[in-house]
Amino acid sequence: MGLLIKGGEIVTADSRHRSDLYVEDETITRIGESLSAPAGTEIIDATGKIVFPGFIDPHVHIHLPFMATFAKDTHATASRAALIGGTTCYIEMVCPSRNEDALEGYHIWKAKADGNSACDYAFHMGVTRYDAQTESQLREIVEDGTTSFKIFLSYKNFFGVNDEEMFSTLKLAAELGVITTAHCENAELVSQLQQLLLSAGKTGPEWHEPSRPVAIEAEGTNRFATFVEQTGATGYVVHLSCAPALRAAVEAKLRGVKLYIESVLPHFLLDRSYAERNGVEGMKHIMSPPLRDKRNLPVLWNALQAGLIDTVGTDHCPFDTKQKLLGANAFTQIPNGIPGIEDRVNLMYTYGVKRGVLDIHRFVDALSTRPAKLFGLFPRKGTIAVGSDADLVIYDPEYRGTISAATQYTNNDYNGFEGFAIQGRPSIVTVRGKVQVRDGVFVGEAGRGQLLRRKPNHFAGETTYAS
Ligand code: URP
Ligand code: ZN
Ligand code: ZN
Repeated sequence: MGLLIKGGEIVTADSRHRSDLYVEDETITRIGESLSAPAGTEIIDATGKIVFPGFIDPHVHIHLPFMATFAKDTHATASRAALIGGTTCYIEMVCPSRNEDALEGYHIWKAKADGNSACDYAFHMGVTRYDAQTESQLREIVEDGTTSFKIFLSYKNFFGVNDEEMFSTLKLAAELGVITTAHCENAELVSQLQQLLLSAGKTGPEWHEPSRPVAIEAEGTNRFATFVEQTGATGYVVHLSCAPALRAAVEAKLRGVKLYIESVLPHFLLDRSYAERNGVEGMKHIMSPPLRDKRNLPVLWNALQAGLIDTVGTDHCPFDTKQKLLGANAFTQIPNGIPGIEDRVNLMYTYGVKRGVLDIHRFVDALSTRPAKLFGLFPRKGTIAVGSDADLVIYDPEYRGTISAATQYTNNDYNGFEGFAIQGRPSIVTVRGKVQVRDGVFVGEAGRGQLLRRKPNHFAGETTYAS
């Protein structure tokens, strides 16, 4: 059955016009004025609404064994929360630990998702050690359509790789035309500072940020950029949190390094004072890189508006209050992470677009189009065009509400953005032509989501942004 969306204002990364949209099966087949449709077509009146391309979250954790526990989500729970908030596709980090087999890990992560997600998804393959098997395993994984890697410069002895392993990963990535994403903090310095702080009796969550200061992130960012440059690879810095790291990444961009920058929702809206709250309230806001001094926030907003920060993800990673309390006696044991998949679009729209600090097209670009282009999903995803998947968000800019754990779909007992007002939310969300959400309620098909197999798109000389 077809779907006709009438009278909405279609907003993409580079255009804005009032038009009707016709969807046949899973695909947008017509865009134009006063479109008609055969009997039996569902007609949605989008008057007064904005029609956005489905939003893409380029950085989420769903299955994640980490810090003596597991992140709380399943694909069933995470995908519903994503869809309620207008995210129609996410890319999950496959994160086997250093002592696990990479290929086995890849199959475990795939099996967890298979048939369980209500929205489409893809993976970044975590490379957490580089040994004699790694090259052939990674070739097989890329062949299978997972065309982005993830490395951690942090988390010593767990996910972290050393410089030699980083070099080997990037060299192979360059050959395969694969983009490598990286968590950029100096693992050794973090580990040393953690021990110094703990031995001085500094055990509370307020010491998490001082254990990984901005200089440590800037060093990691600069080192990663230098390795990307020397190997001719393409790099993507994940969850960049502060001005010094931004400067390191932008300097690399300016000297021609193929380096892209992601920041994530918490770093635009929250500062370190949230993690300095007493007891578990502070622990709820522990993530890495940590929440920073509030002087960094306007710097990130400006860089996002200017396009220096390419994308906005969430680093969605839910641990509940009980799990956070694992770190009651030492901040180093607090599971790192905060959920955000449900709230990214509404919060960035409210505090970016509505506040007048983020152009609406840049908003679409950073939250949908650029992730699609960088990660090989464009133009199937990330835009509204004839032939694209009908992943659509019919957005109500007049909606007024407040973020609260009491009303969220997110599988957690708190929300790090509790009490934040929102001005706008999706009223209809479709995944490949099927309505999955109506006015804040999931009404769709639980297992609709498909694994998106991609092709490498970062060979030397290739223009990433070509449509
Ligand atoms: O604190 C965070 N970011 N937790 C998830 C793991 C990671 O570093 O991305
Ligand atoms: Zn990370
Ligand atoms: Zn992450």
